[in-house]
Amino acid sequence: MEKYEKVKEILKKNNQEQLLVCYDKLDEKGKEKLLDQILNVDFDLINKLYEQTKKGVEMGDDVIEPVDYVDKSKLSKEEYEKLEKIGDQAIKDGKLAVLTLAGGQGTRLGYNGPKGTFDIGLDTHESLFELICKPIKEANKKYGITIPWYIMTSHENNAQTVKFFEDHDYFGYPKNDVIFFIQGELPMIDTEGKILVNEQGFLKLAADGHGGVFESMLKSGALEDMNKRKIEWVFIGPVDNPLVNMVDPIFVAVAETRKCMAAGKSVVKARPEERVGVFCKRNGKPSVVEYTEISEEMSNKRDENGELVFGESHINCNLFNIKRVNEIAANKLPYHEAFKKANYINSKGELVVADKPNAYKFETFIFDAFQSMESMAIMRVKREDEFAPVKNAEGVDSPETARELYINFHKNSAK
Ligand code: UD1
Repeated sequence: MEKYEKVKEILKKNNQEQLLVCYDKLDEKGKEKLLDQILNVDFDLINKLYEQTKKGVEMGDDVIEPVDYVDKSKLSKEEYEKLEKIGDQAIKDGKLAVLTLAGGQGTRLGYNGPKGTFDIGLDTHESLFELICKPIKEANKKYGITIPWYIMTSHENNAQTVKFFEDHDYFGYPKNDVIFFIQGELPMIDTEGKILVNEQGFLKLAADGHGGVFESMLKSGALEDMNKRKIEWVFIGPVDNPLVNMVDPIFVAVAETRKCMAAGKSVVKARPEERVGVFCKRNGKPSVVEYTEISEEMSNKRDENGELVFGESHINCNLFNIKRVNEIAANKLPYHEAFKKANYINSKGELVVADKPNAYKFETFIFDAFQSMESMAIMRVKREDEFAPVKNAEGVDSPETARELYINFHKNSAK
């Protein structure tokens, strides 16, 4: 009872009393869970985030400039071989780990399960997880080691993801070297700043974005595990790109030889309106201007050769030095809001079914960590070799386009 009184007081102070609307209907275990959830909320942060929603996206006085990059396909044979030797050695020495961001929802894809379990329709019906796993297995064979594979899931999809791996015998990957960890979550709020109650009577929580990877690596022990394994570089990539090239000696070597603490792969932006973020320098530091943030003028700006000035697309394939991950994990990244449709229980205990966006969800983005780097190596790779995003159910960046890209890549590399 003491706990209940304490929670009531906190809620009153923060004007969030609606959170107990279903309390009386819950069983003892449920009551306890709800009280604990509330005690875990950082109300100051929620209030701050609510204030932020009123301001909208601001570029402020940021000075945005294009970035320099290395074009992998334009390296001389000599340079390529030199880098390959360095990268091969680092990988052989067990300095590289790979990490898959698999906490997101396949909402745009219209798929209910964890996105990594999605079948893009190849004859083999391999899932995205299996397709991503294949090149790591090949690298293990080539280097005679086992590269640890970390997988970030969410509270929502962790159990299903782990079960999928169990059911598929980890696609033949050594089980002890596949390490799952769960990303954080934050409450969703309505346009009045009230935290929503979900259909079960608990807080409506949502994954806190892939920028949460650093903090979750720290909290879950995944980072400690990497430190123990003496990992120096971690490649962090998406689950929704079957052509993701996670074990790339040239990429590791480019970061090492340039003495950068992070590196990012880019592909040339296909068209000004393509829904990709672009690498840039923001106030002199590495950054990404997200597609939701870029102005039309900036998107369309071309240089004297007709190339897009902001044309180095961020494909969410980045490499971080472990020393820097330890530091990033200890600091908070900025939150970005997304306005979403969310069903909830209102303060009268009635279910509200949303037919249009009605609530804010807050996320951090991995690329906001770039701002803490002095410099970053950007390596341009060929789109057809490494980028087959699976985002939408149909049309651009759909299973159909990804399937075609995947098949063509393997046809060409077999030649
Ligand atoms: C993302 C990038 C964009 C890039 C594009 C390339 C962001 C914010 N933007 O856009 O700069 O050009 O990909 O295709 O990432 N994820 C989690 N947890 C979360 C949210 C996402 O693990 O809380 C994972 C997803 O499972 C996926 C990846 O992060 O693997 C990308 O997330 P998504 O939200 O789909 O990014 P996009 O908007 O497509």
